[in-house]
Amino acid sequence: LFGFKTNKVSGYFEPIAPSKEDALLLPKGFKYDVVAAFDDVINKAGEKFGQGSDYNAYFPIHDSNTRGLLVNNHEYTNIFSIGPIAADGAWSKEQIEKDLYYQGMSVIEVFRDMDGSWKMDTGSQYARRINGFSPFELTGPAKGTAAVGHATAVKGTFANCSGGVTLWNTVLSCEENFSETAERAGLPLTHYGWVVEIDPFDGKYARKHTALGRFNHENTAMGLTKDGRVVVYMGDDKKDACVYKFVSKGKYDPMKDRANSALLEEGTLYVANLKSGKWAPVTYEAVSKLLANEKFKAPTGVKGTREELLAKFKNEGDVVTNCHEAALIVGGTPTDRPEDIEISPFDNTVFVSHTNNDTHGNIHGHITRIFESGDDLGATEFDFEIFIAGGRQSGFSSPDNLAFDSNGNLWIVTDISSSSHNKGVYKTFMNNGLFVVPTHGPGMAQALQFASAPVESELTGPYFTPDENTLFLSIQHPGEMTDDLSKPTSLWPHRPGDKIARCGVVAIQGFKLG
Ligand code: FEO
Ligand code: CA
Ligand code: CA
Ligand code: CA
Repeated sequence: LFGFKTNKVSGYFEPIAPSKEDALLLPKGFKYDVVAAFDDVINKAGEKFGQGSDYNAYFPIHDSNTRGLLVNNHEYTNIFSIGPIAADGAWSKEQIEKDLYYQGMSVIEVFRDMDGSWKMDTGSQYARRINGFSPFELTGPAKGTAAVGHATAVKGTFANCSGGVTLWNTVLSCEENFSETAERAGLPLTHYGWVVEIDPFDGKYARKHTALGRFNHENTAMGLTKDGRVVVYMGDDKKDACVYKFVSKGKYDPMKDRANSALLEEGTLYVANLKSGKWAPVTYEAVSKLLANEKFKAPTGVKGTREELLAKFKNEGDVVTNCHEAALIVGGTPTDRPEDIEISPFDNTVFVSHTNNDTHGNIHGHITRIFESGDDLGATEFDFEIFIAGGRQSGFSSPDNLAFDSNGNLWIVTDISSSSHNKGVYKTFMNNGLFVVPTHGPGMAQALQFASAPVESELTGPYFTPDENTLFLSIQHPGEMTDDLSKPTSLWPHRPGDKIARCGVVAIQGFKLG
């Protein structure tokens, strides 16, 4: 076993070529185990692993690199869980319930067995599902306000895309494209689109932090300011949406453990203005000051007259709930679908994936690198550059999730939408993949392909164990273009006798050759 610790990406593995194969392809010497797949039983209660596997986070048990809890996000369902949709587009009650059940999150216990393979331990005392039926407590400025129908607690989480870990060992999970599920189930839209926090080791702990704003949340990336406050970078995955960061009011105290979570209840939410290089506060104070000017004109992307906006934004709760519009009003720059964000462990620079945006002809996307003023994540000024652009030269298109290894190599997965696979401008890229890009030193900004995904799937949620000997990775929506269950377009993970494709999580390890 030689793990993923390397400061020399080139020569460490033999890059693979793009492929159309219905398989997870890895370089020579690397192998994977499927630790959990859609509908697998995860615990003694018989709860089932969800669908649309996305973000992963590994929490060691007793500091172990070979036994821990794995938290996995479940973003959306498809034909393999809910079956075909009726010709008139209507969903049955059963389909709506399955939709709520199979989205959300799974906490599973995983271990590396004597034979060197990773497995799920279904006898785990921690394994559980969190889904569209689980109760959540609201925190922050929108809690109990008119914007959320005066709710202080809400039902369920869904559309859980990417996420992040906190400094106090909990998981933040991001509600992204929540509106369809909420509308179908007759749930209030403003109860979704938040960042949720769960504690993998404590099933009673579940919160939605409204101070982090409500939008199409992709991810969180947490760091500290030079004076010890908590910073959370977040992407809003929508065409022409903005990049955000939240800075807590109070300071992080490692002695306080999970009580540090209160830091996510009070602070300042900022939006990036890429023209001025400034982080603009998205606050009621800032919004109301601009609306007070009789000459106020709503920027592109914000609907309504000044009077209508004055009626919409009456307090801080209204601002965080209608965050995208508030951000545009205070000068946030619309960008090309900001997805995952990671802070470099090397130099505190911040990397933002911009998947693509066909309305601007940005077909293959790019990764932006933000340099905070004075390398302080709490700075209110920054500059930035395009670190690497998708296209033939880099070899990838449509970057999405990011993960750093400890040597500052950026691991990038791609999200070319399944309807575009092997067509037109996306043809040469074939199936989605996983790429590695050094962010400093030799080979900087040169991408090497490490994995190729099964048919009509997306690789998501790359996450290393602390010793970097294992890489967890989700295989999301294989065969999702299937419209007839008797003719699935993928059968990954190709379990003997299986007739459907299953999303799932794999553990990847490298073994010395020869
Ligand atoms: Fe769920 Fe933005 O990918
Ligand atoms: Ca994503
Ligand atoms: Ca990430
Ligand atoms: Ca995506």
